[in-house]
Amino acid sequence: MIELKNIEYGYGNHIVLKNINLMAKKGSVLVLLGPSGAGKSSLVRIMNLLEKPKVGGLSIAGFDFDFTKKIADDDIRALRQKVGMVFQQYHLWPHKTVMENLIYAPTQLNKMAKAEAIAQADKMLDRLKLSGLGNRFPLKLSGGQQQRVAIARALMMSPEVLLFDEPTAALDPEITSQVAEIINELSTTGITQVVVTHDVDFAKKIATDIVYLENGQTVEVGSRDHFDNPVTQEFKDYLSH
Ligand SMILES: Nc1ncnc2c1ncn2[C@@H]1O[C@H](COP(=O)(O)OP(=O)(O)OP(=O)(O)O)[C@@H](O)[C@H]1O
Ligand SMILES: [Mg+2]
Repeated sequence: MIELKNIEYGYGNHIVLKNINLMAKKGSVLVLLGPSGAGKSSLVRIMNLLEKPKVGGLSIAGFDFDFTKKIADDDIRALRQKVGMVFQQYHLWPHKTVMENLIYAPTQLNKMAKAEAIAQADKMLDRLKLSGLGNRFPLKLSGGQQQRVAIARALMMSPEVLLFDEPTAALDPEITSQVAEIINELSTTGITQVVVTHDVDFAKKIATDIVYLENGQTVEVGSRDHFDNPVTQEFKDYLSH
């Protein structure tokens, strides 16, 4: 479902990802861990082409990109319909209500009829325990509610892949647990998820697979068993702080 091949990436002359090779199976939850500056956000942003390396390849949600060739804007748009992203800062449109946030992309990009989009949004709000909040503006919601709206909005596009960059960094432990439950429920529906986090307890609740990065390189890659049986000293040290 997701494959990264020989990715090299830098900002200017500053190389931040080196020779990255990774796979994630359909329905898996791949958690990216590592110290600040390791390259986790850069890596997850490459997966929906918010960053474009000059070397390497990406296969995701049925698309294949060869970064040595130019990537057409149409392909980027098509990709983003299948690969959703949820950020630490929820990135909701503050001047649109929750409902307007949810139906914007399906009606504008997918040409879904408005009534159908509203019906689907109502179901999504129920599913994420946000019933009755459709007419609120995002800033009148709690952080946890805003993050669930951001997830609901991403789900409105029926994505095959969802990418999360520190989705719980601003949330308290109880709300973090709710987000973990949502991610686990989504994985049973076959959505493939990649989650960047610093929160090891949260990672343990959701991960099927892990990647531990340091200095732009993968140090440890494997199943969730690596939490109990880390192989490298680096990952052992990371887990023990
Ligand atoms: N827009 C940018 N321009 C220049 N350098 C950048 C940019 N974004 C990130 N970097 C650099 O790339 C490296 C990797 O950054 P990245 O944000 O991917 O790390 P991270 O693992 O997500 O860190 P954190 O845990 O702090 O979020 C860092 O050295 C960072 O300073
Ligand atoms: Mg980051």
